Amino acid sequence: MNLKGKNFLKLLDFTPEEIADLLALSAELKAKKKAKIAHDTLHGKNIALIFEKASTRTRCAFEVAAFDLGMHTTYLDPSGSQIGKKESISDTAQVLGRMYDGIEYRGFGQSLVEELAKYAGVPVWNGLTTEFHPTQILADLLTIQEKFGKLKGIKMAYCGDARFNMGNSLMVGCAKMGLDFVACAPKKYFPQQELTETCKALAKQSGGSVTQTEDILEGVKDADVIYTDVWVSMGEPMEIWEERIKDLAPYQVNAKVMAAAKPDAIFMHCLPSFHDLNTSIGKEMGARFGRDSMEVSPDVFDSKQSVVFDEAENRMHTIKAVMLATLGE
Ligand code: CP
Ligand code: NVA
Repeated sequence: MNLKGKNFLKLLDFTPEEIADLLALSAELKAKKKAKIAHDTLHGKNIALIFEKASTRTRCAFEVAAFDLGMHTTYLDPSGSQIGKKESISDTAQVLGRMYDGIEYRGFGQSLVEELAKYAGVPVWNGLTTEFHPTQILADLLTIQEKFGKLKGIKMAYCGDARFNMGNSLMVGCAKMGLDFVACAPKKYFPQQELTETCKALAKQSGGSVTQTEDILEGVKDADVIYTDVWVSMGEPMEIWEERIKDLAPYQVNAKVMAAAKPDAIFMHCLPSFHDLNTSIGKEMGARFGRDSMEVSPDVFDSKQSVVFDEAENRMHTIKAVMLATLGE
């Protein structure tokens, strides 16, 4: 694998071999971390972390991974920089590119991170856009590999809003790596037609498949992995909740859905998740719509089949691999 100097903007830009190599490097770095073997080989490097949307996992994963590799970080929060307000993306890219060895960007349209990468002159890593969340998919693939010992032939059913960053990126990741991906959603929440066609072609090469169904119980039948994400994503208006609940309530992952999957199926979610009333938005929406949970029921979220916190941990190991591969010697 030679990814030095490359950006990490979306999985479509990488070959299955490169993705497999990044997963292997992630596993190696995870083992080193567990064994307390130092791997701070990027001493003297500095990275900038731009977040135009909130984050817990992605920010912490980038920071801890950077520190473990011996690097320093600067965090630019959604309100604390000039980006987009007084300064264009291209000017920002050229300024930061003079000071930093790499830049992480979380924001709105994919075109913004692509533009940042065009002008930065240093590797740019996508920490989530409206269209894609590629570092999350690496963590998910690593988790699946750890649980099942393989990726090829694994069936993943994605339930809910399949046309946003998570549905899109999982479809790409599965298609590249030979998994069978099924989007279970109302038609208007299926991933975009053009991306679906691209992924179907990729799946043909990898031995996987890409399908879509409105029948959730049919879609999750014999699945190894049941995946879901929030019904309203960052950047979407709060007013949309009512419509989303009406449209997506039949696609909630609950005990009935898990029972239709394989007995040893795992439940996955990128988090954060509305699985109880212990958050302010969860409480507000719960009271308004008379629900105790949204995309996943509490019993499934807390079940033995749930691997959501393994996924969250793997964000750090996989992001570390991306930075090391693109910045290393
Ligand atoms: N999964 C994920 O990206 O989480 P954060 O929004 O907390 O970074
Ligand atoms: N679809 C979610 C993913 C969060 C990690 C969002 O964009 O808010």
